[in-house]
Amino acid sequence: MKIVHVASEVFPYVKTGGLADAVGALVGALADAGHEVSVFLPGYSSAIAHPLAAAAERRLQLRIEMGDIFMSGEVRAFSPRKNLTVYFVCREEFFDRRHPYGTPERDYEDNHHRFIFFCKGVVETLRLADLRADIVHAHDWQAALLPLLLRHAEQRHGATLAMKTVFTVHNLAFQGVFPMRSFYRTNLPGELMGIDGLEFYGQLNMMKGGLLFADRVTTVSPRYAQEIQTPEFGCGLDGVVHTRAGDIVGLLNGIDSAVWNPVTDSLLPAHYSVADLAGKAACRAELLRRHGLDPSFTGPVFGMVCRITEQKGVDLVLANAEFFRTARARLILLGSGDPRLVAAVQELAASAPDRIAVTVRLDESMSHLVEAGSDFFLMPSKFEPCGLNQMYSQAYGTIPLVSRVGGLVDTVTDLTENPAEGTGLMFPPTADGLRDGLERALRLHAEPSRLAAAQARGMAKDFSWATAAQTYQRLYDEAV
Ligand code: ADP
Ligand code: GLC
Repeated sequence: MKIVHVASEVFPYVKTGGLADAVGALVGALADAGHEVSVFLPGYSSAIAHPLAAAAERRLQLRIEMGDIFMSGEVRAFSPRKNLTVYFVCREEFFDRRHPYGTPERDYEDNHHRFIFFCKGVVETLRLADLRADIVHAHDWQAALLPLLLRHAEQRHGATLAMKTVFTVHNLAFQGVFPMRSFYRTNLPGELMGIDGLEFYGQLNMMKGGLLFADRVTTVSPRYAQEIQTPEFGCGLDGVVHTRAGDIVGLLNGIDSAVWNPVTDSLLPAHYSVADLAGKAACRAELLRRHGLDPSFTGPVFGMVCRITEQKGVDLVLANAEFFRTARARLILLGSGDPRLVAAVQELAASAPDRIAVTVRLDESMSHLVEAGSDFFLMPSKFEPCGLNQMYSQAYGTIPLVSRVGGLVDTVTDLTENPAEGTGLMFPPTADGLRDGLERALRLHAEPSRLAAAQARGMAKDFSWATAAQTYQRLYDEAV
């Protein structure tokens, strides 16, 4: 099949979270399965500078209609591996910036223009390059206008650009909501400004484009597919999601075992496997050392790597400050995000520097070391569409300590409820819930044989993308 993916971030070119890992690994797995795969992302300056992209082989000039004006742009294409072509949609005014979406303080004010331009650049490239896709698969709000823009362009030019469209919701909390006056930049028919179109409480909601108009809608775990049809998790769009109840499916993400595998991970100081965990102990000592903590400490090390936001339950960690300040345990947190929460976790670390370490930056290499070197991995998320770190944790022999929401439910088995099959500890997403999880973790750590058995079960699980990609292939087959 000819499959086109469109996303605002793709590993290894640009990454702020799991979207990049998920799309990067999925396109690789589909290419390995023999499909002809293209992936489009915005030509951020940092992405263009990536060594794999340095020698872009092909360039195409674009002239994009944006309301009543035309804007120029360029598409650069290259093939990093067999069956895969990467396209950057470039325009310096929009994408030559320090961050993909905004500064830590606020989103860029022209994000609607940036991502309308991006989506239109994709459609125009499909047309000019005559790509004739079987499937165009768009991810999250930044690409959500594609189903509509494609149909509109097809009517206008009398040519089929994509047989079917698929839209995947990675996170319903980010919807791309902008003043309705920016709608004219889409050049879509005016009737789409209504409630059955892109309107949402008087504003333009880009996510609705994907939810309502893609041929197939998916999200990243079965549990989240159910949750987003409820007011509690629907972020105001549960009614819209519910209109697609019959055809929304939750397909679990996988993990890219070429990148996340303790046997081969080139970002780790030592390698290990379930048969020989000596390397894990070496990673643990290095992790503690790198954070100025005593490497000979024998109690449990809790690790956490995340966007520092409400979603990730950082406030629940703060509510348990006393535990981390006094228990015989260490906490190591790597993340970046909301300045208020960042300041609060830094204050927490300063209050017990010999027990708590916080690193505020994006650091791919350190994220691997935290996964490998921790005994427990903390994910007290308020909601979690899929979550990747709990899968990385299990592969790395690190016990995930997760709240009972979304994809965490689909990928972790609770040890307390299911002692024979458990691989992690689960709790409700509240401060007391987390506290109870932490206490259970301390008890588990004091029972080495029970801990080792849970570790081994986690490490034996198959989270590979090869399996996950097959479920997408079936969906594409059915759609076409
Ligand atoms: P989300 O996409 O909601 O942020 P996921 O669990 O799906 O959550 O994926 C998060 C990804 O981003 C993981 O690969 C995680 O290791 C990575 N990540 C988050 N924060 C950082 C950071 N500060 N440095 C490096 N990697 C990070
Ligand atoms: C989103 C979600 C996360 C998911 C990731 C990849 O960012 O918050 O749960 O794992 O997308 O699908």
